[in-house]
Amino acid sequence: MAREGSRGLSPLAAPTPTAWLELATERWRELLIDHANCEKKAASSALALLFAYPEDQVLTAALAPLAREELRHFEQVAALMARLGVAFERQRPGRYAAGLRAVLRSHEPLRKLDLLLSSALIEARSCERFALLAPRLPEPLGRFYHGLQEAEARHYELYLGLAQRACAELEGEPWRRRLAELAAVEAELATRPDQMLRFHSGPPEV
Ligand SMILES: [Fe+2]
Ligand SMILES: [Fe+2]
Repeated sequence: MAREGSRGLSPLAAPTPTAWLELATERWRELLIDHANCEKKAASSALALLFAYPEDQVLTAALAPLAREELRHFEQVAALMARLGVAFERQRPGRYAAGLRAVLRSHEPLRKLDLLLSSALIEARSCERFALLAPRLPEPLGRFYHGLQEAEARHYELYLGLAQRACAELEGEPWRRRLAELAAVEAELATRPDQMLRFHSGPPEV
């Protein structure tokens, strides 16, 4: 699915701050609960795209297996939580997803492009953070996160490929420029001091 220029290049505009990484390593139990939620949300976002664009068979063929894979990740996180004695609890959502959603355009066909690009950025941030956390976390979590990093890299490339394809149908809408705009918003949300620690948050202020 990945087109010219996307493979192997992270679309992120800024790296995760060390302060986030240090706290996330320390508070991995709390983070695991949010991670489980993120996997559910990833499946649900892919399903939402299937509902929104039923006429797009390329998108359907790519995202139906992705939704299944994300739900499988959720099951794997839930099994690990049980094994490590981490209980599910309701957490307040962080600012990340809502902050990104707020800047997406609401009219078609640009909405479709923005949804695909923002999904690519979320997957790329997950990929970056799994890679950073994997060598720092105890087993079996470290090995599990290493495996997830590869899956999320595949996912962001897939979403970028779909976005480029959607863009090819829009004249005068260069996908790279819009990707850079959304990446700047994403980077701000993921790096600016935050009120709470979440998988996609900035470093908490306290
Ligand atoms: Fe996943
Ligand atoms: Fe993913």
